[in-house]
Amino acid sequence: MKIFYLTSTGNSLFVARQLGTELYSIPQVLKEGIKKIEADEIGIVYPCYGVGTPQQVLKFLDQVKLKSSYIFAVMTYGKMAGASASHLEREMKKRGIHLSYFRQILMVDNYLPLFDMQREIASIPEKKIDQQLSLIEREIHRQKHRIHRNTLPQSLFTWLYQIHHNHLLKRAHKKIHIQGECKNCKICVKTCSMDNITLESKGPMFGKNCQFCLACAHHCPEQIIRIKGEKGSSRFRHEEVSLKDIIAANQ
Ligand SMILES: Cc1cc2nc3c(=O)[nH]c(=O)nc-3n(C[C@H](O)[C@H](O)[C@H](O)COP(=O)(O)O)c2cc1C
Repeated sequence: MKIFYLTSTGNSLFVARQLGTELYSIPQVLKEGIKKIEADEIGIVYPCYGVGTPQQVLKFLDQVKLKSSYIFAVMTYGKMAGASASHLEREMKKRGIHLSYFRQILMVDNYLPLFDMQREIASIPEKKIDQQLSLIEREIHRQKHRIHRNTLPQSLFTWLYQIHHNHLLKRAHKKIHIQGECKNCKICVKTCSMDNITLESKGPMFGKNCQFCLACAHHCPEQIIRIKGEKGSSRFRHEEVSLKDIIAANQ
């Protein structure tokens, strides 16, 4: 089994690790230009963005030819998944890929413009992540076929929200600002999977390729990377994922 993952704060990496041992980072596959992947089972584990599929996952599907009789996807999300299952299934179908299994798993919502991380972290026990995960583990081990069917209102919501999200990405770099003194540790540069941050004398500069994954803001040890309208100054990283793991995944 080969599992491909995308992560900015560790939720999806944590899930990927629970499901398998042969893990590959999607940003690295994109950067290395890998064109073909073949395995008995292929998994994709990623965070929900804009109640749908992140652009980096769609680019991965564009670039790589997947060859397997069992392709599954697990999406981590925080509050509202909309019609993410149908979104991925449709995007895969367009590319001639058959998705055998999809499940979404409720975890901490790391979206700083809407959620306060202290509250999110406090709500972890209610999410029963272990229970959700063991069900997914069992089903994937049995190669269960399951697609979560979404309703028409959910699909409409995802369609509209994806337009909004893609529009936001064009000006995402303008929503990030620096508040305080940069100690030049370069952690923001190293955790950015888009290589979109450069360190200049006055601190980090953000290019126009931002996916708004917020890794730079969550992992900055000085917490000087702030997001317009953020709901709190606390930051999040999954407790079983180290900063080193995030850097290794996104470099
Ligand atoms: C740009 C962005 C958009 C997001 N959109 C949604 C969303 O529409 N619905 C949702 O439930 N969570 C959303 N989230 C929260 C993440 O999907 C969730 O926290 C995920 O588990 C993070 O995974 P990671 O730690 O592997 O990066 C969003 C997060 C970001 C950064």
